[in-house]
Amino acid sequence: MYAAVVHSFDAPPRFDTIDTPRPDGEHEILVDVLAAGLHPRVRSDADGTHYTSGGVLPLVPGIDAVGRTPQGELLYFVAPDTALGTMAEQAVVDRRRAITLPAGTDPVAVAAAMNPGMSSWVALRRRVTLEPGARVLILGATGNSGQLAVQIAKHLGAAHVVAAGRDPERLDLLPGLGADETVSLLGDPEKVADRLGRSAGDADVVIDYLWGPVAEHAMPALLAARPERAKPLAWIQIGSMAGAEITLPSYLLRAANLQIMGSGQGSVTTAGIVAELPSLATEIASGTLAVDPLALPLSGVERAWNTPTAPGQRIVLTPGD
Ligand SMILES: NC(=O)c1ccc[n+]([C@@H]2O[C@H](COP(=O)([O-])OP(=O)(O)OC[C@H]3O[C@@H](n4cnc5c(N)ncnc54)[C@H](OP(=O)(O)O)[C@@H]3O)[C@@H](O)[C@H]2O)c1
Repeated sequence: MYAAVVHSFDAPPRFDTIDTPRPDGEHEILVDVLAAGLHPRVRSDADGTHYTSGGVLPLVPGIDAVGRTPQGELLYFVAPDTALGTMAEQAVVDRRRAITLPAGTDPVAVAAAMNPGMSSWVALRRRVTLEPGARVLILGATGNSGQLAVQIAKHLGAAHVVAAGRDPERLDLLPGLGADETVSLLGDPEKVADRLGRSAGDADVVIDYLWGPVAEHAMPALLAARPERAKPLAWIQIGSMAGAEITLPSYLLRAANLQIMGSGQGSVTTAGIVAELPSLATEIASGTLAVDPLALPLSGVERAWNTPTAPGQRIVLTPGD
């Protein structure tokens, strides 16, 4: 069968032939892949930089997909951490990591939105209890995950959402998706931190896709601006688009009720993540959550890898085209 195949961590995958994988055991089935999203995590697997990367080559990238069983059932599934991912004509699915989608669901929309959507959905449902009236700050709200986080935080009951990001045009669109306030992350870091403190000093939850210098400046600014220092502030680390590390002055942990945690594979069990998928899929399939996919044929994977996307747009590879 044809697949996207990574032969070197320095180059994009090539459209190539590989042996069709064989299901093994009672839980596995072979499906036709209809659509697989090109998420940041897929890129970091393909260039060998993700923390779960085992350095094994060749590898087929792709961490999730929508597929069709031989009986015509539509599935969304999450691939295991192996070198055989979902960007292929067919993939082996472990039924315990799959959910059934209603007939008529748009495979491209689901493939585009499940991974970025589950980042905030799982964080807000499994890592914290989002109290009614909660105030949420989203750092990195202009990306795919961030713009879905704005919508999901509101959908799950947040009373006030502050959306912070760089891209001015995308930032301007976020009030239309539910953001109560926006904060530009462009410009002098100290001034950015002041703006964040003023707009989100009273936040209960921060959903952080950026980390690095952005979080490093934002943390003291938010804590200094807190009307009530002992009120818990759950800082949920989800992505590291601005940097993998921060320096954390110890006083920040003493001077306020700062609770730093992460959300992702490992901090939530696979079973816990899969349990959240049906309700998220329902919201995506029904169009409640706005998504912006760019479908490209799997056969053009090499070109697709370097195709520029607008902020908030997600490339989805379709083997059938
Ligand atoms: N833990 C999980 O469960 C989970 C799940 C999904 C995703 N993630 C992670 O979440 C992160 C975001 O994913 P995504 O799907 O939203 O990616 P994306 O659609 O590519 O968006 C990333 C955004 O990050 C912003 N950005 C990049 N560098 C920045 C910087 N130095 N300062 C400020 N903003 C910066 C850009 O915003 P502008 O356009 O405004 O420049 C960009 O739009 C990734 O690290 C991804 O791996 C984690």
